[in-house]
Amino acid sequence: MADESQPFLAPRPAVARMAPYSPPTGGRHGKLRLDFNENTVGSSPHVIEFLREQLNEAGLSVYPEYAETKAALATYFDVSPDRFLLSNGTDEAIQVLINTYVDDQDEVISLHPSYAMYRFYAELAGARVTEVSYREGTLAFPLEELLAAITPATRAVLISNPNNPTGTGIGLPEIERILAHVPSAAVLIDEAYFEFCGVTALGLLDRYPNLFVSRTFSKVYGMAALRLGCLFSQAANTAWMHKAQSPYSVNAVAALAARAAVADTAYIQTYVAGVLAAREEAYAGFDRLGIPYYRSRANFVLFRAGERSIALRDALRGRGVLVRDRSYEIPGCIRLTIGTREQVARFFAELESLW
Ligand SMILES: Cc1ncc(COP(=O)(O)O)c(C=O)c1O
Repeated sequence: MADESQPFLAPRPAVARMAPYSPPTGGRHGKLRLDFNENTVGSSPHVIEFLREQLNEAGLSVYPEYAETKAALATYFDVSPDRFLLSNGTDEAIQVLINTYVDDQDEVISLHPSYAMYRFYAELAGARVTEVSYREGTLAFPLEELLAAITPATRAVLISNPNNPTGTGIGLPEIERILAHVPSAAVLIDEAYFEFCGVTALGLLDRYPNLFVSRTFSKVYGMAALRLGCLFSQAANTAWMHKAQSPYSVNAVAALAARAAVADTAYIQTYVAGVLAAREEAYAGFDRLGIPYYRSRANFVLFRAGERSIALRDALRGRGVLVRDRSYEIPGCIRLTIGTREQVARFFAELESLW
């Protein structure tokens, strides 16, 4: 038996210092999931069909091979295969980027509020993290403040565009200003919600050796369970990052699924069009109830529930509708994932009866 009286083994100081991050990971089954910005309907049915055709016992016994998936994705993204890596979700892409370019005590800049894993992996690496706040009131991107925060010691700048959870974003001229301002730091533009806004920095790869762009299959593609992302940069950078990445971190099922997912562009377009229509209806619903909200470039909308935000989230959960409280970082705010028009209507029916 373990002797519990022994002192525990101390972790690295960076791990001991890290702020804990524990998103809710259970109890979502059977509920209307408007809390994690996933595709609320599911992946393309062709993905499941393809997996049924391709998967067999022998296939599961072999370590994954990626050549066919990389070829299909290179065509789809119009980027040569030596300019991207597959990753175990965007999360691993962030980690690989940091492990490749950021050392203990280096400076990393991210924004606040933003996707929690930037800070998570930067702190895990022992970096010093500076967070620049989105503009108060409008939650607009703080371009001038970000440029002013960059120092000669800055090794990485991590940006979600559009940003989660604010839904606000920047265009290519602002991205270029940032890239030109920090030529010796890695600038990550995380495009997890690209399909809903259409702004991409991929076309800038040729001109900026410090640019890194990530995409995920967890959101519009409806494959969050499989954990698949892509990290793009110039070939010399991807070679270094390959060196810092575990060779089989992407599983074979995810790699297969991606091939079918990118072949069904009609499914993605139809889903995006539905979300954009439903987002307009959500704005109208909030207007009708007099609830302030932030216009969004993504498949989620942040709204102000005031002091009742946590109670409201819990009451909605009791009615089978999940939303994400963000009041711990933007007082009084809840983030609503936009799904289909019917799902948004269901949310408003419940909200209205509780408001
Ligand atoms: C900005 C952003 N990047 C990445 C992710 C997650 O990506 P993945 O599931 O590919 O790790 C999220 C999920 O919420 C996100 O909001």
